[in-house]
Amino acid sequence: MTKSRVAVLISGRGSNMLALLKAARQPAYPAEIALVLSNRPQAHGLELARSAGVTTCALDHTPYGGNREQFERAMQAAIERHSINLICLAGFMRLLTPWFVQQWDGRMLNIHPALLPAFKGINTHTRALAAGVKIHGATVHFVTAEMDSGPIVAQGAVAVREEDDAETLAARVLDVEHRIYPLSLQLVASGRVRMADGRCLVDGVTAPGAALIVPELRGKMSENR
Ligand code: GAR
Repeated sequence: MTKSRVAVLISGRGSNMLALLKAARQPAYPAEIALVLSNRPQAHGLELARSAGVTTCALDHTPYGGNREQFERAMQAAIERHSINLICLAGFMRLLTPWFVQQWDGRMLNIHPALLPAFKGINTHTRALAAGVKIHGATVHFVTAEMDSGPIVAQGAVAVREEDDAETLAARVLDVEHRIYPLSLQLVASGRVRMADGRCLVDGVTAPGAALIVPELRGKMSENR
């Protein structure tokens, strides 16, 4: 099996990157993490990647000022040096230009902390709580020129609790992220994801039959009412 060579792009803590690294340590996993690149040289995730023995690249975006494409051309050159087949954005907090997105069309994934197409953009957990949604979650999708809008590979959902604040909700969603990102990369790298009419179709998988219904009544007595 030839493994896909993956670059993980981060800006901060790097917990999704670690989840991908952990999955990629399995011998049968179809992808290897060949590079971790951060636009923030101080990102904690870079430290984690170094400790795990992964090749890293710190490419500070600030000297490029507002010139996004020039920064991305430098990033592209760094990525090309490592013969990368796939990019995983994992908390990479830079908007990408259509030029860079085009270079990686159909070969770049992102994880977003909400059930897209709801709550695109930032502060997703605060906005989900303010909207009073009962179910929230995370999405892995292909990156297209429009932000947080590409074909969806996988989603995972959690029940929102009345006592949740943004932090407690984020923690449960993050657990889901750490499951759906390795799964999505596995499916994409093994060639099981096909694109049809802007949607992803996945070969050889099932969708669980059980519904997640929120809220739920407690105990038998209440069920009979
Ligand atoms: C994750 O929750 C990810 O979904 C989010 O940033 C966090 C990064 O955490 N990404 C976005 O908001 C992208 N718009 P991590 O560095 O621990 O993986």
